[in-house]
Amino acid sequence: MRTRENFDRNWMFHVGEVGKIVKTVKKAGMIAGLTNALGEERHEPFAIGEAARITQNVARELLGDPNFEIAQIYGSDTPKDKITGWVGVNLPHDWRLEQPYNPERGGAFQGYLPNGVGYYRKVFQIPQEDEGKKIIIEFDGVMRNSSVWVNGCFVGDHLSGYTSFHYDITDLLKYGDEEGDNVILVRTDTTGGDEGWWYEGGGIYRHVWLTKHDYLHVDRWGTFVRTERMDNERAAITVETTVSNEYPQPMKYGIRTSILNPDGELVAVTESDCETPGIDKQTVLQSVQVTNPLLWSLDMPHLYEAITELIHDGQIVDTYRTVFGIRTVEYRQNGLYLNGKYVQVKGTCNHQDFAGVGIALPDSVHEYKIKRLLEMGCNAYRCAHHAPAPELLDACDRLGMLVMNENRISESTEIKLDDLKSMLYRDRNHPSIFMWSLGNEEKISGSYQANRMLKRLQDLTKRIDSTRPVTAANLSQQGMDIEVNGVNYAESIKGSQTIGEWFQSHPEAKVLNTENVSFFSARGVYEDDPEGGRCSSYGSRYTMLGKEVDVGNLGGAGGTSTPERSWRYFLNNRFSGGLFVWTGFDYRGETTPFQWPSVLSHFGILDYCGFAKDSYYFYQSIWKDEPIVHLMPHWNWPDRLGQQVEVRVYTNCSEVELVLNGQSLGKKQAETEAGEITLSWQVAYEPGLLEAIAYRDGVMVAAERKETTMEAYSVHLEANRSELLADGQDVSMVTVSVRDQSGRVVPVAGNLIRFHVAGEGKLLGLGNGDPGCHESDKGDTRSVFNGYALALIQSLDEAGEIRIEASSEGLVPAVLTLQSRKDLTN
Ligand code: GAL
Repeated sequence: MRTRENFDRNWMFHVGEVGKIVKTVKKAGMIAGLTNALGEERHEPFAIGEAARITQNVARELLGDPNFEIAQIYGSDTPKDKITGWVGVNLPHDWRLEQPYNPERGGAFQGYLPNGVGYYRKVFQIPQEDEGKKIIIEFDGVMRNSSVWVNGCFVGDHLSGYTSFHYDITDLLKYGDEEGDNVILVRTDTTGGDEGWWYEGGGIYRHVWLTKHDYLHVDRWGTFVRTERMDNERAAITVETTVSNEYPQPMKYGIRTSILNPDGELVAVTESDCETPGIDKQTVLQSVQVTNPLLWSLDMPHLYEAITELIHDGQIVDTYRTVFGIRTVEYRQNGLYLNGKYVQVKGTCNHQDFAGVGIALPDSVHEYKIKRLLEMGCNAYRCAHHAPAPELLDACDRLGMLVMNENRISESTEIKLDDLKSMLYRDRNHPSIFMWSLGNEEKISGSYQANRMLKRLQDLTKRIDSTRPVTAANLSQQGMDIEVNGVNYAESIKGSQTIGEWFQSHPEAKVLNTENVSFFSARGVYEDDPEGGRCSSYGSRYTMLGKEVDVGNLGGAGGTSTPERSWRYFLNNRFSGGLFVWTGFDYRGETTPFQWPSVLSHFGILDYCGFAKDSYYFYQSIWKDEPIVHLMPHWNWPDRLGQQVEVRVYTNCSEVELVLNGQSLGKKQAETEAGEITLSWQVAYEPGLLEAIAYRDGVMVAAERKETTMEAYSVHLEANRSELLADGQDVSMVTVSVRDQSGRVVPVAGNLIRFHVAGEGKLLGLGNGDPGCHESDKGDTRSVFNGYALALIQSLDEAGEIRIEASSEGLVPAVLTLQSRKDLTN
C-alpha cells in the first residue's frame, strides 16, 4: 500500500562548507564522510563486501589504526569529528534569513542577504518490512543548486530552486536494524548565479516527503482528471492515468477509479483491465459521468476527489488520490470565462517571501496570504515568476482564488523543459489554475531564437494540458506568437504603450494585462525618506532608477504607474480580460527606488506582514461591490499645526463628505465607473477627529475616521486564530500594536518590543513591514513600524496553552494566550 510520510523533522543544518565535495567515486557506495553514518550514529560499519572487509582488517593491522575504514581509500575522508557546528532544524527552512543584512554583500536585488552554502543532514531508519517497496524521496523545492547523497552514493543535482524533484532511493537504503542507519546529506548552494531579481532565500524551504509504494504503481504525478463537457445535469470527466510497472515481468491488473463528491460520497466509479510490460509505463483513459455536478467556482470552490486503485490478483496494490474540480475555463477575445460565465481578472503578482519566515512558509501562512488578497477583492494570483509551493495551490483551490502558474524562464533547453514539465504534471489537476504562463519579460523576446524556444514550450504545454490557455508576459507583443498575449505595463512608459494600436491590427488577438502598476509606498509613510529607505504613500518623487524628479501636482512619479492610471487604462481598453498588479505583498529585495538601507521592495499593496497600505482600499474600491471608504493620512501631525495637509479618500460610493472636528469640509462626488475613485482635499491641520462619510444615492453607507492619538501607553496583541493544531507546523498571526491610553493605535509609534513565548508553542518569526529596518526576523525583539508589528507563533507537537508576552520599556505589557489542540478540524 502507498504511504507518503512527511520527512521535514529532525534534520541537522550547517552553514558553510563541511569538507570536500565528492560526487564521483571509483567504487559503488564508497563516498564516505558525512554521506554515511558516523561515530556514535553508527550501529553497523559501512556495508562493505566480505573481500573488502578482509582488506580493511589487514590495513588496520598494518597501519595500527583500528578505526581505519576502507572507504577512506575510495571515497572522501571519514571526518569523525565533523559533526560539530551543526544545529537541529525542522523544515521548511530558509537559512539565508538567519544571516544579518549586509550592505556589502547580497546586493539590493537579493535584499542584502548574502548568498552562500548550507548543508542538511539527517539520520533515519527504514523498517525491515519496507523491503520490497519502492521508496522515493520527494523535494517540493530546494533553493538552489542542490546536491543529494544517500548512504555513500551521490544521488543527483537539481538546478532550479522553484521546481519539485524526486529520487528513487529504494536500492540505496538500509533496511531494518541489521543493515543499520541511513544518512541523507543535502548541499544547497546559492552562489552559482541567481535565478531571479528578488530575494530568493536558501535551503530546503518546502516540504520533503518519503513515498513508499508497490513496484506496480500510479506514476509520479500520474493522473490528470479533466472536465470534458458539462451542463447543469451532468459532467463528462476524463481520467488519464499513467501506470508504471517496475517489475521485470509483464503485469495484468485492473484500474478502478472512484469519484467522491465534496461530502466524500461515492458518485461514480469505473474500472478497466490492463496489462503493462515489465519495466514500462502505460497511460489509460477512463470516462466517468457525474450527475448534478457541484462546480468549482470562485464563490463555491467545490472539490471532488478521484481515488485510483490498482488491483492485481484480487489485491489492491496501490491507491492514489487526486483532488480536482469540475469546471471549464476558456479565454475569449474579451477575457476569461469560468463555467461559461465571464470573470474579470482582478489579479496580483506575488513572490513567495513573507515576514518572519522568508521563503519557508508553513502551510497556514500560504492560506493567510490568500485570504488577505481575497478580502481585498482580488480573485487571481500570478505566481511571479515561478511555480509555487503545492500548498499555495491547495489553498487557492479551497478558497476560490484563480491562479496563473508561471514557468521561470522561457528557454527550451532539455533542463528547462524538464522544469516546465515538472510544473505542468505536478499542478495540472488544480482547478484554481486558469492559465499557464511560459515566462516573463525575456530580454530576447521577439527574436527568431526566442520564438523558436517559445513555440517549443507552448507545444509541450499544450500536449501535456490542452485544457488551459497559455500566455507569456512581455513588455511588447511585437513578433510574438502565443495563444494569449500577456502584456506587461501597457499603461506606462515601461511598456510599449502601443498595445491599443497593435490590437486594432490584430482584432483576433486575445490579451491579458499580466503585470501593471508597480507603485511605490511604505505602510503609514506620507513623505519620501531616502535616508530611511522608505517611500511616500501619496506616491514617491523618486523614479524607478532612484532619481528625484519634480512631479508638481501629479501626486507622485514613484514606480511605473499609479493604481488610478492603471485602472483607467483598463477601463478604456476592455479588450483585455483584466489586470495583475505588481505586487500583492512586499518582498525582500528589488528595493527600488532606494538601495541600502532599503531591504524590502516597495511595490506591495500589503506590506510583507500582510498589513494593508493605503492603496489596499483603492483596490477594494474597484474590486468589491460593498461600500468602501478609506481616509489617509493618519491625523498625528503636531509639527504642521495650521498647515495644509492633503487628505485623500478612496471610495466606491458616489459621494463623500469630509468632516473635521464636527465641521464639514464639503462633499465631493466620485465617478466610480470612470475610475475617479480617489478624492482629495487640502485641509488646514488641527488635531482631533477627521471623518470621511460615504453616501450612495444620498444614503450614508460607510464611514472611516482618523483620530489624533495621545502618546504610546501600552502594547496590544491580537491573534488571527486563537486555536492552533498541535502538529508542530500550524501558525497563528499575532498582530502587535502600540496604543495610547484610549486604546487607539499610535500611527507613528516605533517602540521596541520584547517577546517571550512559553508553553506549547514557539516564536517562529517577526516582522514589521519597514523597508529600512535591519532587525532580524528571527530574533526575539522587534520594533513596531508606524504602530504595528507581526509575530508568527507556531504550535509544537503537544497540545496545551501557548502564552505570549510582549513588553516594551515604559509601556504596559500585553499577554495573550492561545490554545493548541490535537483535535482541531480546520
Ligand atoms: C517588472 C518585472 C517584475 C518586477 C517589476 C518591478 O518589469 O516583471 O519582476 O521587477 O518590473 O517594477
